[in-house]
Amino acid sequence: MGSLDSPRERENGNGNVNVGCRSPGDPKLGDGGMIVVESEAMKKRRASMLPLEVGTRVMCRWRDSKYHPVKVIERRKMHSAGPNDYEYYVHYTEFNRRLDEWVKLEHLDLDSVETVVDEKVEDKVTSLKMTRHQKRKIDETHVEGHEELDAASLREHEEFTKVKNIATIELGRYEIETWYFSPFPPEYNDCVKLYFCEFCLNFMKRKEQLQRHMRKCDLKHPPGDEIYRCGTLSMFEVDGKKNKVYGQNLCYLAKLFLDHKTLYYDVDLFLFYVLCECDDRGCHMVGYFSKEKHSEESYNLACILTLPPYQRKGYGKFLIAFSYELSKKEGKVGTPERPLSDLGLLSYRGYWTRVLLDILKKHKGNISIKELSDMTAIKAEDILATLQSLELIQYRKGQHVICADPKVLDRHLKAAGRGGLEVDVSKLIWTPYKEQG
Ligand code: ACO
Ligand code: ZN
Repeated sequence: MGSLDSPRERENGNGNVNVGCRSPGDPKLGDGGMIVVESEAMKKRRASMLPLEVGTRVMCRWRDSKYHPVKVIERRKMHSAGPNDYEYYVHYTEFNRRLDEWVKLEHLDLDSVETVVDEKVEDKVTSLKMTRHQKRKIDETHVEGHEELDAASLREHEEFTKVKNIATIELGRYEIETWYFSPFPPEYNDCVKLYFCEFCLNFMKRKEQLQRHMRKCDLKHPPGDEIYRCGTLSMFEVDGKKNKVYGQNLCYLAKLFLDHKTLYYDVDLFLFYVLCECDDRGCHMVGYFSKEKHSEESYNLACILTLPPYQRKGYGKFLIAFSYELSKKEGKVGTPERPLSDLGLLSYRGYWTRVLLDILKKHKGNISIKELSDMTAIKAEDILATLQSLELIQYRKGQHVICADPKVLDRHLKAAGRGGLEVDVSKLIWTPYKEQG
């Protein structure tokens, strides 16, 4: 499984890298004569493998100065190019795709290059030997965070989005490194940095364009209705139909940090809940979630994002809690749209665990999953899965029974981490969506 930490966190040394690392192979050399002979041979071998083929597996020096296994996803010629002057776009096979990046040849340890595998041939061979089911299972378990996409859609998705197009964005007072590909209109294909207006989310290629825009833009908060205010935190509800451009801009922006979502043009069908920190300069977006106006699958949240500078401060859990408060007001149970990303799953698991165990701790006597669901608006399946993963469920006489020893509950609660920011329901002024006209 990949690391969960974002590059910035890792740079600060907070990352919890738990992967096998090695230094580039130190050739064990004999006397002086041997060195010359061997390095000549090595030089030849290296020259023969350059430029590296897409698909090559090799060790690569990362920002922690250690070597990690990568797969070459793409290559491009550098401007001042000699025949072998390429940069390589690599995927660290032990990490999430958000850490994929362009590297120069000198980061790669050519002595570690594995024999090049033609993937198409490999695929053919594998499919001959395995049933489709077996192969699908392998493909699916192979890629983290996409367990619920089938193998064919996964491959298509990965091919189309394999190289990150925008490297950084400027948004308000932050410059943010992006994580994934986002399908900006073709005229933005040639830029690596984009400048966003933090209020209307229009994006531009150049800083001067943004400065000019900021002098004219009269928004100081997201468009739509402010439905929650508590201290400096505000939540705005934006109807995608009434604010189409804003909705699309938000989707382009969000996709830079979401690997597997494909919502860009049908924003009409969604409401966007945009969380802001407010000060005398305006309301600055911290994160958001989107919600279908009508969901047949009882989804109460489609996409959720906390912008990287604001992550790990409890905003994710706040947004999740908020989505369930809306469901309670609708008198419905809800569940997030699948698939969940690695970070999405962690945040939801943490939220579900805390909410359910808090109730179980206080509750005297028996309680059923249905009752828990009615109290929390969490879908019964999610409750069952959470309690099962905590081993709090037993199956007796054809029924699921919750077994909640107070000491065990305390241990799980401790492990579930901090509670996140509280939603003060008394500050929520909202009525469920109704089609107008
Ligand atoms: N490493 C390890 N654990 C993490 C990390 C991380 N980098 N980030 C979050 N977590 C876990 C922790 O358990 C954390 O609780 P803790 O801080 O008490 O330990 C918990 O998730 C949530 O922390 P919050 O601070 O409440 O959440 P945050 O504001 O960081 O937002 C979110 C979480 C929205 C998932 C954020 O990571 C994000 O925007 N990621 C990119 C987009 C994404 O993956 N969205 C979910 C897609 S699935 C869907 O949309 C339905
Ligand atoms: Zn603007």
